[in-house]
Amino acid sequence: APEPATLVIFGATGDLARRKLLPAVFGLWQDGLLGSAFNIVGIGRQEMNDEQFKDFVLAALKESKETDTPQPGSLEKFRELLYYEFGDFGGDEVYSLIDKELRRAQADHGGRKNALFYLSTPPSLFEPISNGLGRLGLADESEGWRRLVIEKPFGHDLKSARELNDAIHRVWDESQVYRIDHYLGKETVQNLMAIRFGNAIFEPLWNRGFVDHVQITAAEDLGLEGRAGYYEEAGVVRDMLQNHLMQLFALTAMEPPAAFDANAIRDEKVKVLRAVKEIPSGRVNEVAVRGQYGPGTLYGEDVPGYREEPKVREGSATPTYVALKLEVDNWRWQGVPFFLRTGKRLPKKVTEIAVVFKRPPLGIFPGGLERNVLAFRIQPDEGVSLKFSSKTPGQEMVLREVVMDFRYDAFGAQLESPYSRLLLDAMVGDATLFPREDEVDLAWQIVSGILDTWDTPAGRRPRKGPDFPNYVAGTWGPDEADELMGPDRRWRRL
Ligand code: BG6
Repeated sequence: APEPATLVIFGATGDLARRKLLPAVFGLWQDGLLGSAFNIVGIGRQEMNDEQFKDFVLAALKESKETDTPQPGSLEKFRELLYYEFGDFGGDEVYSLIDKELRRAQADHGGRKNALFYLSTPPSLFEPISNGLGRLGLADESEGWRRLVIEKPFGHDLKSARELNDAIHRVWDESQVYRIDHYLGKETVQNLMAIRFGNAIFEPLWNRGFVDHVQITAAEDLGLEGRAGYYEEAGVVRDMLQNHLMQLFALTAMEPPAAFDANAIRDEKVKVLRAVKEIPSGRVNEVAVRGQYGPGTLYGEDVPGYREEPKVREGSATPTYVALKLEVDNWRWQGVPFFLRTGKRLPKKVTEIAVVFKRPPLGIFPGGLERNVLAFRIQPDEGVSLKFSSKTPGQEMVLREVVMDFRYDAFGAQLESPYSRLLLDAMVGDATLFPREDEVDLAWQIVSGILDTWDTPAGRRPRKGPDFPNYVAGTWGPDEADELMGPDRRWRRL
């Protein structure tokens, strides 16, 4: 059985907690994975008593689509695990209330005073909360393990990410810190490692001898979803590229680790991130394309352009699309470009990693000579497919591309939500699926030339003003993204 533990959620009444985190906790608890000696303390700045918080959580669970079907009586039982404390995160009081809650939990359940502190707050509060916990001795592990989970975004740029890491390390040891990148919690992202390192046939082909290039796409059909306050400051590079796409890249390109453990895997990711060729500010527009959507139609409905979304600045230069060519300076990948693209308001939601192999060296059939593609569909229609050429039935030797397809639903099980996977891993102390300090730092280093070139300094008009909007909502982004690939390659039609 799991050790007794308390989950302390900062920002417990926020959007993320309501939509993802609380349903994930409930599901894990109902499945018995968190044990019975478990409780949750919600922390907020908002005044609320325990009863109001319990009502809030139950309402959130009923509302969220991600909540597992409750067994009879289980919601009522879950309710009893919930407590709430509030206060100013800069002062000491709220942290002494947390200490009191941990003592209460110990009195109720016995055992050690284990606690997971989950920061589901705006990023400006990460440092004050970490410091507050430190001041009151709550990061000290003498009476039980203590772990800190931090939501994205981790920093706003390289400098602020380093400052945040330094601030956190003044209180916590790196082994206590769990930085969330929810893409790593997706089953299919984990399957990328399973397929690469659990089979003998792929790895021999996974290099410059056989691979022509790799395409990583994370397309979203959604627009801003009322998040202008955050997104105007972030833009697509910070929102998706620096974290989720860099992680997908690292897992695709890294060397096989010697073992499936947190540091072995993260060491390999760090090595490949370090091998990415620097993108100097002066060369950004040769290897990267940015876009912002204008009005268009999606699924037959008119949708507004980015600049028409509520609370977006007039003439905003915030990019909602990016395509990037990365080069990796190591033996395995020399000369093999990695093309990454992600954007909002594209024709559909699809995330895919496609390894595109070289053409056959000699064409003995008419036509043919297509490149084989091994594609990992991260979401939706989770699966893996291999595209190759085959003879079509008939008298003549005519080749056509066919697809061999593995679908995840063949397992007949529902895919776990990334949040429940990551939360459980943090509870049991497995950091494999959490980016380490040096990974986050390197990912910022890789995109920093892009940010320096594209960011508009506060209060100024955009520098070489990009010609925004430059793609129509519901299309695959600006045309320049095609040119990025050169004459002999093209983006997959998804
Ligand atoms: C989040 C971004 O990290 O990832 C969102 O902030 C984005 O803008 C989301 O929509 C995409 O996640 P998923 O799991 O739906 O692909």
